[in-house]
Amino acid sequence: MLDICNLVKNYGKKQAVKGINFTVNPGEIFGFLGHNGAGKTTTIKISSGLLKPTSGTVKICGYDIVSQPVEAKKNLGYVPEAPYLYNKLTGREFLSMVSGIYMKNSYDLAKKRINSLLGQFQMSNDADKLIGSYSQGMRRKITLCAALLHKPKVILLDEPTSGLDAVSAKAAKDMFRKHANENAAVLLTTHILEIAERICDRIGVIYQGELIAAGTLDELKERASSPGSTLEDIFMELTQENKNETEKGED
Ligand SMILES: Nc1ncnc2c1ncn2[C@@H]1O[C@H](COP(=O)(O)OP(=O)(O)OP(=O)(O)O)[C@@H](O)[C@H]1O
Ligand SMILES: [Mg+2]
Repeated sequence: MLDICNLVKNYGKKQAVKGINFTVNPGEIFGFLGHNGAGKTTTIKISSGLLKPTSGTVKICGYDIVSQPVEAKKNLGYVPEAPYLYNKLTGREFLSMVSGIYMKNSYDLAKKRINSLLGQFQMSNDADKLIGSYSQGMRRKITLCAALLHKPKVILLDEPTSGLDAVSAKAAKDMFRKHANENAAVLLTTHILEIAERICDRIGVIYQGELIAAGTLDELKERASSPGSTLEDIFMELTQENKNETEKGED
């Protein structure tokens, strides 16, 4: 459903992504973990079509995001790390605008979906206020509503729960699972290991632009040196191993 193949991205001399391969299958939530600057946002931005890869491919439901962007994007929902929103529109107007792009022949269905999503995120009372007056968490919630509105088959979420209160974070996590249960492929980045542990079916660890491990939590635990390791222990161990190898290579 989401296929990332030999993906490379250089920003000038900086190699941000160094040949990443992975697939997120329908029905699956794939958690993307990595330190600051590891290359998560770069991978997601390329997958969304916002950035061009230096080489390699990303396919959304079989469509290449570079050569077949329209078909690919029809199947895509994307929550950016730093969303751009129209401050002079209300939340509801913004969602109506997005539904006009993705669901242009189903006005009544779109209206119902907008109301339902706003309700699930406790945004019904603020939906008719200007986005410019929203708090950070409210902006994130409107972005989530916009990304999920047309029930996309591939959902890219860059730190989707950052800034959300506990109730909204729980609503968001439940919604991601619901979409996966309806056969969407979900890729999400997070620094909150508890989220990765609780809701992700598989986890990929990216370190300095390389995917250094991927698997279910149990598979990652099997690789760990001591039994009973938590995801935090495994993450520390994996990144430390790679840090040591990089340093050895530099000697
Ligand atoms: N527009 C840019 N120009 C130059 N370098 C960039 C640009 N965007 C990102 N980078 C560099 O690419 C690397 C990967 O950045 P990226 O934003 O993908 O990391 P990340 O894993 O999302 O980090 P974080 O956890 O902090 O969000 C970093 O070294 C960053 O400095
Ligand atoms: Mg990022």
